[in-house]
Amino acid sequence: MPRRTSSTAGPVVVSIGGSVLLTGDGDREYLIALADLLRGIGRSVRLVVTTGGGRTAREYIRIGRGLGLTEVELDEIGIEVTRLHARLLAARVGPPAPPHPPGTIAEAVHELARGSPVILGGTEPGHTTDGVAALLAARLRAARLVNATDVNGVYDRDPRTDPKAVRLDRVTWSEFRSMVHALASGGAGQNFLFDRLGADTLARAGIPLWIVHGRDLANLDAAIRGLPFDGSRVE
Ligand code: UTP
Repeated sequence: MPRRTSSTAGPVVVSIGGSVLLTGDGDREYLIALADLLRGIGRSVRLVVTTGGGRTAREYIRIGRGLGLTEVELDEIGIEVTRLHARLLAARVGPPAPPHPPGTIAEAVHELARGSPVILGGTEPGHTTDGVAALLAARLRAARLVNATDVNGVYDRDPRTDPKAVRLDRVTWSEFRSMVHALASGGAGQNFLFDRLGADTLARAGIPLWIVHGRDLANLDAAIRGLPFDGSRVE
């Protein structure tokens, strides 16, 4: 009997940042291609996808904060935006993706038993869709979590502001958790590469986190399938 590898050992969870979904540049073409990719892979790999809120969520949160809303209310507004993005993507993917995004981890697990891919946004206040993806990965004993984000991996410094930043292709959980804990501030709409709850959850469950540029669909495809890809691995 062939040995089970990480590519076939369990479901795969993908967290797609809102900053990848809607950039203002080629979004329509990207969403069409992404939906095709997820529909195709979802047939052979049990796939759960979370969608972030990106700049749209941040804009609503900024306005809400100016109006004096509580952090919990701001999180709830952020969740609504992430669910809107899930709905947009799921509608393009079509059946069996449920058109109404599941609202809880339990509902998402239930939907995955009925069909793949399952696409959802946020669930409850206090974390981000990365956190949702990590909780789902732990709950499903996923083979890996693929974080499709707006950088092509983990850098030793912020590559957007520091040209000397060096990409780290392999990172240990202890190094990665130190980075996340040092840089995340925790308020609504705040995040560094991956959320704190997410990093802690994956580290505890021993689930690998693979980081890839979400607009690089060939590499996203490879990472989801467990094939060699251009990006960083936290393991
Ligand atoms: P995101 O997951 O989009 O966070 O949720 P983000 O850090 O802005 O990530 P990118 O930019 O999309 O990659 C947006 C906001 O919605 C709230 C949080 O306030 C978060 O910052 N949220 C989201 C929750 O409170 N709970 C959730 O389960 C999801």
